[in-house]
Amino acid sequence: MNIVMVASECAPFFKTGGLADVIGSLPSALAGRGHTLSVFLPKHTSLPLEIAEQATFLQSFDVRVKWRKQYCGLYLYQTEEISYYFIDNEYYFKRPALYGENDDAERYAFFTHACLEAFERLQLEIDILHCHDWQTGLLPAYLHQRRTEQLPKTVFTIHNLKYQGVFPLTVFDELLHFEENDRPQLEMNGAINFMKTALLHADWITTVSPSYAREIMQQPFGEGLEPILWQRQHVLSGILNGIDDESYHPGRDQALYQTYTHQPARKQLNKVRLQQELGLPVLTESPLFVMISRLVEEKGIPLLLEVVDQLFSSETMQIIILGDGDRRLADALQNVAARYPDSFRFIGEFNEQLARKLYAASDFLLMPSRFEPCGLSQLIALRYETVPIVRETGGLKDTIRPFNECSGEGNGFSFTHYRADDFLHTIRYAIQQYARPEKWRQLQLTMYNSHLGWDQSARIYEQLYHQLLSGEADI
Ligand code: GLC
Repeated sequence: MNIVMVASECAPFFKTGGLADVIGSLPSALAGRGHTLSVFLPKHTSLPLEIAEQATFLQSFDVRVKWRKQYCGLYLYQTEEISYYFIDNEYYFKRPALYGENDDAERYAFFTHACLEAFERLQLEIDILHCHDWQTGLLPAYLHQRRTEQLPKTVFTIHNLKYQGVFPLTVFDELLHFEENDRPQLEMNGAINFMKTALLHADWITTVSPSYAREIMQQPFGEGLEPILWQRQHVLSGILNGIDDESYHPGRDQALYQTYTHQPARKQLNKVRLQQELGLPVLTESPLFVMISRLVEEKGIPLLLEVVDQLFSSETMQIIILGDGDRRLADALQNVAARYPDSFRFIGEFNEQLARKLYAASDFLLMPSRFEPCGLSQLIALRYETVPIVRETGGLKDTIRPFNECSGEGNGFSFTHYRADDFLHTIRYAIQQYARPEKWRQLQLTMYNSHLGWDQSARIYEQLYHQLLSGEADI
């Protein structure tokens, strides 16, 4: 099949979150199954120079954004498996931030119009057009407007329903190329909503875990779009993300102090070196917890702040938090770090190399999310043989089975309700198991056997694409 993916970020080129990891790895998994993959991305200024230099300029053309006529340069970066097309316009994309600018609606309307123009100019044969998140949400609707026979089938993946691309009503007349009677399909609560229109027009909607696909049918997870999701539930399914298990490979990862595969003693060396580097007491016998996350409320940082004093009053343990985001959360974490210099560190940045060191050095990963469409950190943690402690929501529920000390089953620890007490209790229980060598060994063994790559999910996507093309999908 000729599959085209469109997204706003892609690792290792530019990344703000898990979306980039998915766009950086799912296409290879599909290409590995014999399909032809093209990926369309904005040429953000953070594209590493060595990639930009290897990309070839194909052509330039004008793109209309209502009355505006904007330059678009089209670049191709070809790898063995994938054709990456970059949409270039420095006015829109030569900015430090991928999102959060005042004119995001215009930037991504431009991107959408430019992609459509590029498809035509390149005369791409497209069987499946797979769009991701609100930035690409207009595409399925624009395709619908075309009355040609051979339209690609469109799939729209929701990576996080909290971010819908919501803009003032004026955007409709100012930026978008729709007819007046299309207006209701874009409007929602007195605003223009890019995600809503995607949900209405995509031939199929996926989200990144089966549990999240069920959760978003109800408040508050549906973030106001539950009526639309109900309406389209017959074309909605949840498909779990995988991780790139070649890139995340503790046996080969050059970022680590010491590589290892199922070798707890070698893994332990990472802990010692990290403790030394961060100026923490070197405590090999007590557990090290990490949290690697964007600092936003829904990742459960408030829960951690609530339990931290109780934890440190009864347990010998260390906690390291890595991530940037909300200023208030960062200040609160900094405050904890000042009070517990020997057991708590907060590193307020997004740092991929350090993140890998942390996954390798720690015993536990904390992920008490209020909601989590899929979550990738828990999968990376498992890969680095670090035990996840999660709240049972979305993809966390689908990937982490709680350890059962009687049967020895389970690859992590989990709690059901978003409550500080439950989180505290789960951490204490996990520490108890950590202190029991036999139980700990059992847990490690199940962890080693967790399936984390894309194999299974790529097969499910492939099956879905086939069904859409043959008309067998239940549309
Ligand atoms: C978003 C979600 C996260 C998911 C990722 C990739 O960042 O918040 O749960 O893993 O997208 O799909």
